[in-house]
Amino acid sequence: MEEGPPQPDDPAGDHTGAHHKRPRRGSESSKSSTSVESLRSTRTLQSEDLQFVHENGRIYGNDSYFMPCDQQEQDCLAIQHQVFLLALKGKLTTTKVTSATKRILDLGTGPGYWAVAMAQQYPHAEVVGIDMAVWDVETTEAVAGNSNVTWEIDDLDVWGVDDEIEDITLRLERYDIARDHANREPLDSPAKHREKANSEGSHTAPHTPSEHTYDLYVLEPEVQPGWHFSDTYNLIHLRAMKGVFAYWEGVYDEIYKNLAPGGWVEICDYDMTLPNLEELKSLDEFPFPSLAKLYLGVMQASFKSGRPIGTYYMHRTYLEDAGFKDVHTTYVNVPIGQWPEDEEQRKVGKLLLVCVMETLEAFLLRLLTTWGDAEKVWTVEEVRNTIEVGKSEILEWSRGPDRQGKRDGWCASFKWIVGRKPHDAPD
Ligand SMILES: C[S@@+](CC[C@H](N)C(=O)[O-])C[C@H]1O[C@@H](n2cnc3c(N)ncnc32)[C@H](O)[C@@H]1O
Repeated sequence: MEEGPPQPDDPAGDHTGAHHKRPRRGSESSKSSTSVESLRSTRTLQSEDLQFVHENGRIYGNDSYFMPCDQQEQDCLAIQHQVFLLALKGKLTTTKVTSATKRILDLGTGPGYWAVAMAQQYPHAEVVGIDMAVWDVETTEAVAGNSNVTWEIDDLDVWGVDDEIEDITLRLERYDIARDHANREPLDSPAKHREKANSEGSHTAPHTPSEHTYDLYVLEPEVQPGWHFSDTYNLIHLRAMKGVFAYWEGVYDEIYKNLAPGGWVEICDYDMTLPNLEELKSLDEFPFPSLAKLYLGVMQASFKSGRPIGTYYMHRTYLEDAGFKDVHTTYVNVPIGQWPEDEEQRKVGKLLLVCVMETLEAFLLRLLTTWGDAEKVWTVEEVRNTIEVGKSEILEWSRGPDRQGKRDGWCASFKWIVGRKPHDAPD
């Protein structure tokens, strides 16, 4: 593990923003429906805008984000929170929170386990958790204890997906399983491609219809998309946000803008690689073929959807390009399964195995049944049947390294990356 970053010593004053409490799931003000309008907006959503999408027995917060927001998923996120904690030996953050850390923002807070724990550990700080979906934060607080977190409902994806800019074939070509199957290398968004092409002297963006004026991330011609919070923050945190946005360069610019000088951003997530995949000529040769099919399929589906999954979005170049300094990364390998000998490692490995098994359907279902892999859109039955086989393969793999030395004990790679907005940056 690398060392932690230097201390934030942000001198920001005591800001208080006007936030309103978000409604609780099941309250009269939150509607349930089978369809949802686009919630792309820079305003804070009103409770009457909130609708759920019921699809294949799961509940989703909107029609675009690939993961559900139902009780089943909330239970998984509760376990996953414990895994993140154990991976960091009980710490909630790799930044150093001080008395100057007055305002903390958790973007895509979900059921809010991290936000609640931060508010309890640092009572001097005002903690705000934002999410576009209504989660059962009452259960979170019943389990984790009460907190003074301010919950807000807002759709942070003010950019959406630029569907017209790239065709699906081009998107798929960007995912080369042999080169980087976990998709960890930085990816330019279509907007970034355009910017680069223009700065290299080309007047037409790549893959664009000729007479179209390219300004697709601007939804209303005069209005620049962005987040308009009432005050700046000293720490902005995002966890497990892969596949949420198509335009990560814009996300990091907004985070930078909404931090006070000296404030920190922290992003954390994890991925799981498949062993020796680059050496295999075909997926059928892979020791766990159903798992490999699901893995490859869901990666391809996410590219087709325009919001690729993978941890590419945490690459340090995004932070550096946005202006962050003191960029620092912490990696922790967490075992999947109880194969390690060390007691602590066995404990976290068991929790992560439960988490992986339980969240598998949530991770795969919408992407494979809506977008499909390079060849076809999957049926719900195909996904569920393949998952059943995939689960037995996971159990087999999680038993540990094989005797022939063909595969190591299975681990997930957890990563935290932080960066600081310079003290002399204009507020
Ligand atoms: C995998 S969950 C992670 C939740 C939480 N950060 C955690 O670590 O437990 C991703 C979260 O992003 C939220 N999300 C997805 N799209 C969003 C959007 N456009 N605006 C705000 N939140 C969004 C989802 O509702 C979900 O709560």
